[in-house]
Amino acid sequence: MEHSPSNKMITLLLLLFLLGCTHHGHASSDHPKIDSIFSFGNSYADTGNFVKLAAPLLPVIPFNNLPYGETFFGHPTGRASNGRLIIDFIAEGLGVPFVPPYHGESKNFTNGANFAVVGATALDLAFFQKNNITSVPPFNTSLSVQVEWFQKLKPTLCSTTDGCKDYLERSLFFMGEIGGNDYVFLLADGKTVDEVMSYVPKVVGAISAGVEAVIEEGARYVVVPGQLPTGCLPIILTLYTRPNTADYDAGTGCLWRFNALARYHNAVLFEAVSLLRVKYPSVAIVFADYYRPVIKFVQNPDKFGFSDSSKLRACCGGGGGPYNYDVAAACGFPGASACPDPAASINWDGIHLTEAAYAQIAAGWLHGPYARPPILAAVQRRSAKGNPIQMATSTPLSDTLSF
Ligand SMILES: *[C@@H]1O[C@H](CO)[C@@H](O)[C@H](O)[C@H]1NC(C)=O
Ligand SMILES: *[C@@H]1O[C@H](CO)[C@@H](O)[C@H](O)[C@H]1NC(C)=O
Ligand SMILES: *[C@@H]1O[C@H](CO)[C@@H](O)[C@H](O)[C@H]1NC(C)=O
Repeated sequence: MEHSPSNKMITLLLLLFLLGCTHHGHASSDHPKIDSIFSFGNSYADTGNFVKLAAPLLPVIPFNNLPYGETFFGHPTGRASNGRLIIDFIAEGLGVPFVPPYHGESKNFTNGANFAVVGATALDLAFFQKNNITSVPPFNTSLSVQVEWFQKLKPTLCSTTDGCKDYLERSLFFMGEIGGNDYVFLLADGKTVDEVMSYVPKVVGAISAGVEAVIEEGARYVVVPGQLPTGCLPIILTLYTRPNTADYDAGTGCLWRFNALARYHNAVLFEAVSLLRVKYPSVAIVFADYYRPVIKFVQNPDKFGFSDSSKLRACCGGGGGPYNYDVAAACGFPGASACPDPAASINWDGIHLTEAAYAQIAAGWLHGPYARPPILAAVQRRSAKGNPIQMATSTPLSDTLSF
């Protein structure tokens, strides 16, 4: 294995975890008192910002065209999926309205705001420009910029110190997924996956700084999602296709080096989250795993209601072949169409997942087993006792998270 940093990291994390693992009683059955959601990230969470920001600049925005949005909404909403995203299902699960995009039509952000933008990076645009990485589009929407938008909005939501404390104690913050685009742009710049590995601590540092920034503003519930198994995405399988079967994981057919990069990111991020929990003991920080559910879907599609033949194929696209992805005929452009039953597909457009996949991941983040602690356990316990929990379940780490 050429990824000894990640192996060392796993050992360290297991130690950290075992040392910190304590058992708590059952979560109380109090209704979780969450009134608002604030969301930061990229296209996995954008509910309409990019289409507003980019409309004056781009002639065609695929997310503005059907079949995006064909399921549930019946029209495109700027979400990069056929229907609802994880953030929408979490809002439903908490009884909060869908989180309106900060740059959209809504001017009432009492119940939260979504700052996530398609294409956003964890690292600032200036970092890429300084390092001559020209594959990054010139939209200035990185995590720190999104946090600035929140800081600008905050005085309109609450004013006094006590008022803001009360308001933000009833808010849930989503910090990601973010970082995936940083790696995509570094790869597009010609770097190898092994070279990209060396950027992971810097990317995680930027995510950690974003989490600290919202905590300093008053956030008391923060969810930090990791990376998906990017080596299983039709776009990566198409753009980085290899002649040698040794480059593919035999069980899944995914490109294993890309998945190793995602796992390494997740391990470093999990360690950063562990350190933040120590630094901010009054804040409940949830690590939300995107990797394990998606790998499980691909390994065993039937078990989750997905069709075996489409497990690595985009539902919407015009590519044909094993992955149905073609940059020149991508979803939302002429020449692409959606498969007849999107609910039987894991992947929607080659990059993003279907509503059916997002629904199952969101359920796993709310109730377990794909988040630690599950979101509902975190918010219920803190509401009941006034203290957060960090490790709410006795599920072994290996069953919950995957590095
Ligand atoms: C914003 O919406 C909330 C309900 O979600 C409502 O109580 C409040 O009055 C609205 N504020 C304004 C300024 O319309
Ligand atoms: C991006 O916007 C921020 C303000 O939000 C600004 O400080 C920064 O200089 C901008 N970066 C670039 C590269 O334009
Ligand atoms: C950036 O790349 C251009 C073109 O390859 C080169 O001329 C320039 O010297 C590079 N600048 C830096 C700071 O590396």
